[in-house]
Amino acid sequence: MRGLLTLKELQTEKIVELIKYALKLKKGFKISYPDKKMATLFFENSTRTHYSFECALVNLGIKVIDVNVRESSVQKGETLYDTVRTLEALGIDGVIIRHQQDEYYKQLSGIKIPIFNAGDGKGSHPTQSLLDLMTIYEEFGKFEGLKCAIVGDISHSRVAHTNVEIMKRLGMDVYISGPEEFNDHCATWISFDEAIKTCDIIMMLRVQFERHEAKMQMTKEEYHEKYGLTAKRVSEMKENAIIMHPAPINRGVEIADEVAECEKSRIYKQMTNGVYIRMAVISDTLDGNL
Ligand code: CP
Repeated sequence: MRGLLTLKELQTEKIVELIKYALKLKKGFKISYPDKKMATLFFENSTRTHYSFECALVNLGIKVIDVNVRESSVQKGETLYDTVRTLEALGIDGVIIRHQQDEYYKQLSGIKIPIFNAGDGKGSHPTQSLLDLMTIYEEFGKFEGLKCAIVGDISHSRVAHTNVEIMKRLGMDVYISGPEEFNDHCATWISFDEAIKTCDIIMMLRVQFERHEAKMQMTKEEYHEKYGLTAKRVSEMKENAIIMHPAPINRGVEIADEVAECEKSRIYKQMTNGVYIRMAVISDTLDGNL
């Protein structure tokens, strides 16, 4: 299938190429596809991914068809395949999909237009990882040897799972940390204290209360005290270390209000970079490379 479903399907060199292309677009390189139109199809709520994909399409001169799932025939039981097949029949040139089901795209074999995965259940979030990597590369100019801790609700996070795989591939030392109840052993465990003192990147994760089958064993206040990124913990980070978070953020739970926009935070830069990385992915697809 064309487009981008997971990062596993991309060679490491291709990932670096996409990041460099996104940086070129950020510096002002212009490219346009005025005859194209693409649809966004979001079955789960989203602010950043949905609207940064739309910004990316607008910046590339592509017309946006924002499919309102709540008003579509999905409500009458139409399958995902039939919805996408319909968009293809209408002449849409690509579909951006977020869906609550892991690997939903396996239902779409036979679809010929490009599909861009904007997040599948607890599976993958490839463009989020690419924008995270772009932000890291912009900061440090390399990946090899950087030490990153991903902290928090690991087991419910498609961002953590995608990032662990690709960061290892890029030669980074990647660790996971936070409450033991969220440890799914997808990477080496590190204590939060050690992560704070030794890592170049502290990537905090939102506690995804909506995905929890059982109630979290701590209150939000207890979580913040034990695993929240507070101003005191930030003061113990390495001089050039940075804070990342895919957002949305739970201020006062995994991150203190005043830390979210502190000098070390790159959270809003990640969002800005999301537009350029999505432009790069769409442009590279329309040029026949993805
Ligand atoms: N980071 C991210 O995927 O945010 P949204 O859920 O708002 O798209």
